[in-house]
Amino acid sequence: MQIFVANWKMHKTRPQAKAFLQALAPRIKNYPNAEIWIAPPFTALAELSANSSIKRGAQNFYPADQGAFTGEISAEMLKDVGVEFILIGHSERRTLFQETDALIHLKVKAALKHDLLPILCVGESLKEREAKEAFSVIENQIRQALKEVPPTKIVLAYEPVWAIGTGKSATVQMASEMHAYCRSILEKMWGQEWALKTPILYGGSVNQDNAKEFLKNPEIQGVLVGGASLEVEKFIQIIQGGV
Ligand code: PGA
Repeated sequence: MQIFVANWKMHKTRPQAKAFLQALAPRIKNYPNAEIWIAPPFTALAELSANSSIKRGAQNFYPADQGAFTGEISAEMLKDVGVEFILIGHSERRTLFQETDALIHLKVKAALKHDLLPILCVGESLKEREAKEAFSVIENQIRQALKEVPPTKIVLAYEPVWAIGTGKSATVQMASEMHAYCRSILEKMWGQEWALKTPILYGGSVNQDNAKEFLKNPEIQGVLVGGASLEVEKFIQIIQGGV
């Protein structure tokens, strides 16, 4: 099984989401080994509920159960409308919305409390990679996010910040090395069994041309796709690249 996550970010109205899903549904039947997960904007979630083979996700939430948090939405509310997984720690949230490791940690705990599967995103900036800090940055992000969290089902996504939305993906070797490193950290924290069963996805400028190479690598259990997940044809070609 390989996981294909579409992160639509702030794209698609309801009619656009509906048209996409109508075109996608008959095509994914050909790929029974592909798990298709989509995180649309909140407003298009209801379009997704109609299609049961696709896992429904959200891109954001606030880690309190309820209260005076104008503009925010809780894990319980998302669960209530059929959301199954949630992106946490995406670099756009970290940089554009100043989300800290402490907030990300609270989000992981709140998601788990409400039985939402976290996709924990980690990634280093270009400056950090050039300074040879990539491994320590990633280790720190994982350790902070999962601090005192007992072994449990999550998905990890390695998304180098410099590769997101830039058209400049990491090499398969870079991703594979970092995935192995992430798994070694999980092993230290959670033991070998959990480290082995936690899927680690690669994200950052995945497209129809490079997906196959990533997906062939045994360290990579799937891909998290932004831009190229907005068009059915491109997304299907990415899924076709699976093994
Ligand atoms: P991209 O985005 O595929 O457009 O680089 C990936 C992501 O942000 O998850």
